[in-house]
Amino acid sequence: MQAKVISSFDKVIDVPVEGVTTFNEKPAVLEKYGKEIDRVLISKECIKRRLEAMAKEIGDDLKKFKEINCLVVLKGSIFFASDLIRLLDEGTPIRTKLDFIQCSSYGDKAFPNEEVKIEKYGDIEGEIILVIEDIVDKGGTLRKLQEFLTKRGKPFKTCVLLDKTQDKNPDLQLDYVGFKIPREFVGGYGLDYAGMYRGLSDIVVVKKELLKLQ
Ligand code: PRP
Repeated sequence: MQAKVISSFDKVIDVPVEGVTTFNEKPAVLEKYGKEIDRVLISKECIKRRLEAMAKEIGDDLKKFKEINCLVVLKGSIFFASDLIRLLDEGTPIRTKLDFIQCSSYGDKAFPNEEVKIEKYGDIEGEIILVIEDIVDKGGTLRKLQEFLTKRGKPFKTCVLLDKTQDKNPDLQLDYVGFKIPREFVGGYGLDYAGMYRGLSDIVVVKKELLKLQ
């Protein structure tokens, strides 16, 4: 499958099954992980360019606040959050603070459990909270977080790198979305399968045969 070459990153990107790339990218990941990974779905340069546009949009929207508290959903969102927060602080007028929260839904399986638990959180303060989440799959985690923050009367916005819901969850508040992706099992850029692939710079599709083996 040949990835689609894209050059505009200003709006949410609808990723086709063959994936997206920019010119001149040669993903090295397949050499090392070719037996486990089917293809690159979103290349690292596409991620970088889309994040720059998202940071600008968020900066414009939220500049009226003195500072924003970035609430990073562990563990998968760490690379996304780390890149986005630096873009926000360096390239926009807004000032950032940082908090973490951990939820659990997948375990080591490719298919999410229905029940989502909030496991760890500290004090979540701030005039406005920006929830930073790597992926919305069935939506259980984000829904749980929305309820959690709403119950505590915390004003918030949500920022999601990958939306896999295919617009089937209208109750979810998705303020900023990077990419809409097909229903494939993805890893890389913080996302894992059975604990693997978090450290890859591209977002990749894990081979179906591998998912069946677990
Ligand atoms: C993954 C992912 C999201 C959530 C999305 O987290 O990082 O938080 O699942 O799924 P949902 O929309 O169906 O709820 P996971 O529980 O695997 O934890 P991790 O981030 O530590 O990998």
